[in-house]
Amino acid sequence: MLWIPIDRTLDIPLKRQVYEYIRKLILHGELRAGEKLPATRECASHLGISRNVVIEAFEQLLAEGYIVGHQGSGTFVAEGAFLEQMQEEQTTTLEISEECIQEKDVIDFRSGIPALDMFPKKDWGRLAKEVCLEAPDYTFGYDHPEGRLELRKILSQYLRKTRGVKCHADQIVITTGATQAFSLITKLLLSQGDKVFIEDPITNEIQTIFTSTGASLIPIPVDEQGMRTDLLSDSEKPRFIFVTPSHQFPLGSILPIQRRIQLIQYARANECYIVEDDYDSEFRYNGEPISSLQGLDSERVIYVGTFSKNLSPALRMGYLVLPQALIERCKSLKWFHDLHTPSLNQMILARFIEEGLLERHIRKMRKVYMKRRKALREVFLQEFGKTAKILGDSTGLHLIAEFKGVEFTEDIIKRLFQNHVKVYPVEHHAIRKGRHVNKVILGYGNLRTEEIKEGVCKLRTVLEN
Ligand SMILES: Cc1ncc(COP(=O)(O)O)c(C=O)c1O
Repeated sequence: MLWIPIDRTLDIPLKRQVYEYIRKLILHGELRAGEKLPATRECASHLGISRNVVIEAFEQLLAEGYIVGHQGSGTFVAEGAFLEQMQEEQTTTLEISEECIQEKDVIDFRSGIPALDMFPKKDWGRLAKEVCLEAPDYTFGYDHPEGRLELRKILSQYLRKTRGVKCHADQIVITTGATQAFSLITKLLLSQGDKVFIEDPITNEIQTIFTSTGASLIPIPVDEQGMRTDLLSDSEKPRFIFVTPSHQFPLGSILPIQRRIQLIQYARANECYIVEDDYDSEFRYNGEPISSLQGLDSERVIYVGTFSKNLSPALRMGYLVLPQALIERCKSLKWFHDLHTPSLNQMILARFIEEGLLERHIRKMRKVYMKRRKALREVFLQEFGKTAKILGDSTGLHLIAEFKGVEFTEDIIKRLFQNHVKVYPVEHHAIRKGRHVNKVILGYGNLRTEEIKEGVCKLRTVLEN
């Protein structure tokens, strides 16, 4: 008689336990095709459970094709339900949880992560409830690819006011994070053999996206004033030039107006676009945020923004501000990608901005991050003195530390991790290798001051040994 371990303490219905157990035996080949299953009455009395439970489990197995019933002669394992090398589900679960425990104990200087414990949960939760209860029925259906009009309208006003972006709602396409915006730009503008001029170093994820359709990257070095616009070559014609002018990622410089003008003049003369990634510049600590490049020429610049840094990356909300010529094609592409970004989140965000909560949150977070940045600079100076220096403008959620005579090899990064601290070499983001081996990115947005201090002390201890 078939023995099935029944556990009444589990929060899993008995019929599910019977069904799962037999299903597993069949998939693993322990019950073979043609083998007869016991009668439901016998099985139930053997296991001490109700016959209905067994009947329902058998009906489920029958419906999914694991067993077949022959009238009068009983129930049999069906042909073709054996799957070789079924992975034990439990093993994966265990591995994942072990990994999480390790990561949890590490002081992680990952860049671009805002203070996750300070997400405005109350306001967001209140608005989510209001939006959900008040939204007309049609808003729960499919929506337009470019995104909700109320969000695009309020966003255009917000961008004009805070970032000097010149646009109206029709030029905005709401995306699933800036990452999707980069992916749409790639599909929109790049084919095999095309060229992109791009700051070097620059996020390696962005490099991967832009080269995904066969385009090649022409790296333009970055100095303490951002992209070296004097090195833009007239002999190679790019489809676009990619820049992070308000806070270069990762090195942190700001592109001065002279270079901005040079960039726009180049783009006009060579009939190419400029893609401006404005990811974290609202957090500027020693002055007003730098105005956007897009404000200088809205028909040459494609502006990309995100709510991942000023609110949360989990929202997956970003946007594109497009020149007129690209709007319709971009909407079609967005439709093709995922129809549209989830409507309810867009509606919540629109109200969040409309009620002035985004600006209030940014003001509050600017103070928090300023303190964290200050703490990082201070402890850094204390621990490293003149043997290292901090680079970049006082903006955003990370800074760069440059060390004398240190090379951040895989081995050092591994040793740091073993000592519960994680830092990110600039070299990982370099296109031309070898120029930034002594620099690391230190993200401080999601670290409390005590963690920052402890992390930098650990960094010194490992580097000293
Ligand atoms: C340079 C840069 N731009 C933009 C983003 C934002 O990406 P997303 O909006 O998809 O979270 C990131 C993410 O870290 C980034 O490093």
